[in-house]
Amino acid sequence: MAETILEVKDFGIEFHDHDRPERVVEHVNFTLQKGEILGIVGESGSGKSMSALAIAGLLPRKKLKKEGQILFLGEDLMTMERHKLRCLQGDEISMIFQEPMTALNPTMKIGKQVEEALRIHHPEISAEERKKRALTWLKNVEMDDPERVYEAYPHELSGGMRQRVMIAAAMVGNPQLLIADECTTALDVTVQAQIIRLLLEINKTEQVSVLFISHDLSLIRQISHRVIVMQLGHIVEQGDVEQIFNHPQEEYTKKLIAAIPQVEL
Ligand SMILES: Nc1ncnc2c1ncn2[C@@H]1O[C@H](COP(=O)(O)OP(=O)(O)O)[C@@H](O)[C@H]1O
Ligand SMILES: [Mg+2]
Repeated sequence: MAETILEVKDFGIEFHDHDRPERVVEHVNFTLQKGEILGIVGESGSGKSMSALAIAGLLPRKKLKKEGQILFLGEDLMTMERHKLRCLQGDEISMIFQEPMTALNPTMKIGKQVEEALRIHHPEISAEERKKRALTWLKNVEMDDPERVYEAYPHELSGGMRQRVMIAAAMVGNPQLLIADECTTALDVTVQAQIIRLLLEINKTEQVSVLFISHDLSLIRQISHRVIVMQLGHIVEQGDVEQIFNHPQEEYTKKLIAAIPQVEL
């Protein structure tokens, strides 16, 4: 039996910052096993990012009501003490976003940013060892010259390199769960393919569980072991990638698949 990393039970979110409360996510149920890549796909506004942020513990507690349970290694993130949650964030659970330029600090060298999770969560690790691990991860994300990148600033790198830096920074602390929200959406197709290949490789070698979120069905198909289809805050359908794409059960899924652009080669 595989180890369950994440178990989301009857999860829901309701916003309370307008006159009427607005339900944005409802009745979300799924599990993620160790080493598994779970793709979440759905149109814009279907609640993917809200769910991801909730799982990463990054949703503000004000103005919003949450329901259900998010069990990470059996412990509920929704009721966990703040300081304990903060210990998990960026360490056991890490996240990569769409736009690395906004996530990276423009005035800080890349190396220091890659090391950050270690500096915050593992003060027992020496500066020398931190640098060694940062360089290893810069190499793992296929930087030709890790030493140079270590000393560089974000603006000196291309978009694809910055996204790979974010992956290195997310992985350096050896997380159990990596959440990638539209992490290739801003990149061109060739770079996108490189990032996907890299994530697949890292998933295999590190056995990290990945929650891969995208509106792009072709990407979801390439990377996922299992897929969740979301629409308007609900799960429409979930199953193995092969089943979802070859034998979709729901009309909505069938329509989404039929709408995938057929690229002429
Ligand atoms: N601050 C907010 N107040 C009210 N509704 C919001 C807020 N932020 C997002 N939403 C709504 O939550 C829903 C889900 O958004 P989101 O999770 O970002 O979708 P996705 O990532 O799938 O595109 C959307 O309908 C959006 O309008
Ligand atoms: Mg989103």
